[in-house]
Amino acid sequence: MTNPQELLHDPRFLRASTYDAEWILENQMGPNALWLTEWLVQAMDLRRGMRVLDLGCGKALSSIFLAREFGVQVWAADLWIPPTENWARIQAQELGERVYPLRAEAHALPFAEGFFDAIVCVDAYAYFGTDDLYLSYLHRFVREGGSIGIVVPGLMREFDGPVPEHLARRQASGGVFWGPDCWSLHTADWWRHHWARTGLVEVEVADTLEGGIDLWRRWDQAVQASGAGHFPSDAEVLEADGGRYLGFVRMVARRA
Ligand SMILES: C[S@@+](CC[C@H](N)C(=O)[O-])C[C@H]1O[C@@H](n2cnc3c(N)ncnc32)[C@H](O)[C@@H]1O
Repeated sequence: MTNPQELLHDPRFLRASTYDAEWILENQMGPNALWLTEWLVQAMDLRRGMRVLDLGCGKALSSIFLAREFGVQVWAADLWIPPTENWARIQAQELGERVYPLRAEAHALPFAEGFFDAIVCVDAYAYFGTDDLYLSYLHRFVREGGSIGIVVPGLMREFDGPVPEHLARRQASGGVFWGPDCWSLHTADWWRHHWARTGLVEVEVADTLEGGIDLWRRWDQAVQASGAGHFPSDAEVLEADGGRYLGFVRMVARRA
């Protein structure tokens, strides 16, 4: 199978599967933001009209998806992607009345405390959230009883010693998967402990995506088939790994 639309169709993500693969791929910044967002919100209770912060929204695919599928209002906040570019994408989808783009740095959020019903963060939390102090800052922006949900590429098991050989070697594509930033990859248990011990939230879900490595491989194939890749293919590493170490982690918690 090489057709991106078929590669991005998955029966577990029927909402995401209706979106145009070309649109997803041309705006991609990592593994399919719509699969990951749909998986995340399967564990959250989003209701029409809720105020949602999409932190590290990238090109706002997840923000558009949440507004369209759940009728929520989304503040689409990102550091690297100019809000003017996201505004064009949002308007093209006729969601200008429900999705509000802004430039924001995760440690200097321009919001009132308790403003949001929910915060979501898709493939971005590891850039800032491994800091022991970060949840203590972030949680104040969600109301009491509101929820915070993250999805990150993660580890299926931690390792202390040397990086497993198949993750560190140079691939035929020229890429090396494991760089210094990969030390922010962790297991679901690590993330659960990281949040639970603060006492600031009650962790409701901390789990891994079943068959995550297969989805990641399919995503890599779709990126290569469409020519949308910004980096060399990771196909070799993903195949060698087979889900022993790599996959996706989801965590949802409620503010105490
Ligand atoms: C891998 S991209 C994922 C983007 C998008 N969520 C997606 O899945 O397509 C990571 C995003 O995290 C954002 N990010 C990284 N550090 C950040 C920070 N300190 N504050 C706000 N956003 C940050 C970047 O701007 C980038 O768009």
